[in-house]
Amino acid sequence: MATSFFSNIATAAPDAILGITEAFRNDPEALKVNLGVGVYQDAEGRIPMLRSIQEAARQWISTEDTKTYLPIDGVAAFNAANQELIFGKDSSVIKEKRSAAIQTVGGSGALKLGIDFIRKFFPESSIYVSDPSWENHRVIFEATGIKVETYPYYDPKTSGLRSADMLETLRGLKPNTAVLLHACCHNPTGVDLDAKTWAEIATICAEKNLIPFIDCAYQGFAEGLEADAAPIRLFAEKGLTFLLANSFAKSFSMYRERVGGLSVVTGSQKEALAVLSQLKRLVRTIYSSPPSYGAQLVGIVLTNPELRALWVSELDEMRNRINEMRHLFVERLEETVPARDFSFIIRQRGMFSYSGLPTDVMKALRERYHVYGLDSGRICVAALNHKNVDYVCQSIANVLR
Ligand code: LMR
Repeated sequence: MATSFFSNIATAAPDAILGITEAFRNDPEALKVNLGVGVYQDAEGRIPMLRSIQEAARQWISTEDTKTYLPIDGVAAFNAANQELIFGKDSSVIKEKRSAAIQTVGGSGALKLGIDFIRKFFPESSIYVSDPSWENHRVIFEATGIKVETYPYYDPKTSGLRSADMLETLRGLKPNTAVLLHACCHNPTGVDLDAKTWAEIATICAEKNLIPFIDCAYQGFAEGLEADAAPIRLFAEKGLTFLLANSFAKSFSMYRERVGGLSVVTGSQKEALAVLSQLKRLVRTIYSSPPSYGAQLVGIVLTNPELRALWVSELDEMRNRINEMRHLFVERLEETVPARDFSFIIRQRGMFSYSGLPTDVMKALRERYHVYGLDSGRICVAALNHKNVDYVCQSIANVLR
């Protein structure tokens, strides 16, 4: 055989989150629980197919009449409906056509496109992410060559925020530095900024000419669709210009369809058109144009009043079940691990519980009890149910003993 070109390629480390799912799948043990990836499961442990989406699929399949390419920026009806969902129907951003909106390959695709855009037009910029942040933020950003730094965020001592330190760090940043902010349901900590801090951040971003890049992957999972968009709308009302990545994976339980959006809020319609033209050029160099199916379905649900109402009720149901599990988890931990206070978990929001359990405990949970959480101590509460919660809590107690 000729010499292989590939003999020197080392094996990459598994992904910090999806690698856990792979390990879980490969685990032959019958009694196992995957609390790694952020995927909602219902009371029976199933990843639901939403009824609103199934109905939209029926409608779409009976009307779809072509498989030609979508435009580079995706499904127009989806983009328009997405803008309303994020900014609110009466937003000046929409009225003044100041947002360049583009359908993306999931929220991750929006982050990738957004950072490529920043890299191209602000080549001197670095980006600051929260300490800690979603593991893949750093991975996606660093792949473009941009320098990734952190701002203080979570305080393990209080299980709360380091708001003052965060604001001080932001105040000290150079103009045109990008700042990644989580709109709600902070991943991985579940600890969100309050309205007052958001207002201060908006002021700092405006005064210091920082480039906000908001990641909104969990709209509807903290308090509800409108309340969760409040920080974004605040930035828009204050006249800031910024980037926003959003995802429909969780809110529509459509993970594999990869539906997301990037919106760049600019100063005028003219700017928005220029930005959109540049985003389209970037897309062309990566995947040319997006897939159709998932965005069509989301577009149908968002624009059909009955399906939209059904979807909102399904989303409420998911959020309520997660909250119920969050309370039950803490209750059971109080029984199984009485020496330790886990009550802070109640205050966290969204799919995750940042448990404070150290890496060696998380590893032991996997190896000894087949309970898969992330090394960071992040546990997906959205995967807990009445059948597995006792086993999970007992396993934690056994490891801590
Ligand atoms: C997570 O944080 O688990 C999700 O956002 C899924 C992913 O892609 O990492």
